Amino acid sequence: MSAEPLEIHLDDQDIAENLRRDVRVGLTAERKWLPPKWFYDARGSELFDEITRLPEYYPTRAERAVLAGRAAEIAELTGAKTLIELGSGSSEKTRLLLDAFTRRGGLGTFVPLDVSVSALRGSTVTLAADYPGLRVRGIVGDFTRDLDRLPAGGRRLVIFLGGTIGNLLPTERAEFLTRMRTALEAGDWLLVGTDLVKDPAVILPAYDDAAGVTAEFNRNVLRVLNRELGADLDPEAFSHVALWDRDREWIEMRLRAERPMRVRILDLVVSFTAGEELRTEVSAKFRPEGIAAELAAAGWHAERFWTDPDDLFGVTLARAD
Ligand code: AVJ
Repeated sequence: MSAEPLEIHLDDQDIAENLRRDVRVGLTAERKWLPPKWFYDARGSELFDEITRLPEYYPTRAERAVLAGRAAEIAELTGAKTLIELGSGSSEKTRLLLDAFTRRGGLGTFVPLDVSVSALRGSTVTLAADYPGLRVRGIVGDFTRDLDRLPAGGRRLVIFLGGTIGNLLPTERAEFLTRMRTALEAGDWLLVGTDLVKDPAVILPAYDDAAGVTAEFNRNVLRVLNRELGADLDPEAFSHVALWDRDREWIEMRLRAERPMRVRILDLVVSFTAGEELRTEVSAKFRPEGIAAELAAAGWHAERFWTDPDDLFGVTLARAD
């Protein structure tokens, strides 16, 4: 089947408005911050795909190993009719599941949802071509807002891969899992990938690679602000910082102003002191018991938990109670 036109739950105006709001809130805060979703314009999505191939960035390979080993079991256990992928990006690892569902039969529709129109356009066209007989219905949307309009009916499996749930702050995460549960029905399924707590000497290089791709990815958010809001940030004047917060068990990416700066953005003049840092991402790492507890608190029952052979990354299959 050919891909259907993308369904737009989030148009250019919504996106621009959200960006302006996030910039106003984040850059006027006592400790400056921006939400990580603004990394992912066309260039940012490409840089992220490049990150997934770096020797230091283990999560993608580890999660792929789990999915390769468990895809048939996931297809069998869930018997899903509709597969919904949140933050789908290129949907590259999802092919392992689509292959398993194709062998098993019964899956009718694949619904990738992402904020990136460019990523979705590419993935829906190639997936529709590669999986004849599968209805591919791409949704341009924000998984923290657009959960109410997921396709109804049939047994649904929602997948949220890559450890992206770790980009939400703990309260956002709880809210997200609860809203996800409300959007679905008892008997529907959720498959969620989570990077696991481990020696920071393994985690840190994944967020500060030798080739500097993650640094470019981090600075890309400044280019997005310049282009979308006509700001005059100098990306080269900011350096990439990745640090491990041992209490909260998360990675933080920041951009450090290497000199004092005054930046015009929206109707604001934002000042940076030399050495001041702007937080651009939190990437939380999880413990198995924490994942099950967070799911349970939101009305999910973790039925299976799998890891790769090196116990780097976890994948949980949960059922809506
Ligand atoms: C795809 C969002 C899970 O947090 O590891 C990669 C994004 N940031 N390198 C992650 C990311 C820096 C990635 N997620």
